[in-house]
Amino acid sequence: MNRKIIIANWKMNPQTLEEAGRLLDGVVQGLKGADSKNLELVFAPPFPYLFELKKRLPRGISLAAQDVSFSERGAYTGEVSALMVKNAGCDYAIIGHSERRWKLGETNETINLKMKQALAAGLKPILAVGEKEESADLTQIIGAQLAKALAGIISLEDITIAYEPVWAIGTGKPDTPDGALSAALLIRKIVGNIYDNYQSENLPILYGGSVNADNVKSFVLQKGINGALVGGASLVAQDFTKIIKLVMNRE
Ligand code: PGA
Repeated sequence: MNRKIIIANWKMNPQTLEEAGRLLDGVVQGLKGADSKNLELVFAPPFPYLFELKKRLPRGISLAAQDVSFSERGAYTGEVSALMVKNAGCDYAIIGHSERRWKLGETNETINLKMKQALAAGLKPILAVGEKEESADLTQIIGAQLAKALAGIISLEDITIAYEPVWAIGTGKPDTPDGALSAALLIRKIVGNIYDNYQSENLPILYGGSVNADNVKSFVLQKGINGALVGGASLVAQDFTKIIKLVMNRE
């Protein structure tokens, strides 16, 4: 798996469509002429910007939703279904981001329903897992998150996992490259036990948590890590372009 994946998670930013367009255009301009064949680039903007940004997106760059509903349709005020975001042009959906787990009370059971909705709508889920405390027992916490989120899902084919230690998100205090790699290896071992070695070896695993231009290579250039989920540093076009180019020019 030589191809790397970089995902921009804009969270609840920026505040206007105009700014969102400027941010996207800034990155696209910055990448003019760059060779993107060994990189999958994905933007995850807020829902209201999806349709417009899809129109402006050059071919070869994908959109992700930051979440999808646990339900297919119906009387769920405020929810947005997987099929709606698929129809808006998304190929991916982030599911189970720690901000949703810890700030919005999302459980592993809800996350499992969302995974199933995303897959049924033809979206590729990016399942986020990670421990809250730096001292936590990763085997136990990530093992439970994976087993519950993946319950009843028969193939990992369209699934990506993002390892995001909660204490590293938005704190400017990333995990160490060794820590991220050992978590990725642990994830491969756990999913290997649930599925099989072939699926586990071919599963893209990303690192997320205070990734920036200074540290991205130390995470993403490791063989067991297939890319990065970038929050804060994806909101400044110049910074994010730099991150992408560092990963593109890795060889
Ligand atoms: P951060 O966010 O890069 O700002 O730490 C990452 C994420 O939450 O996906």
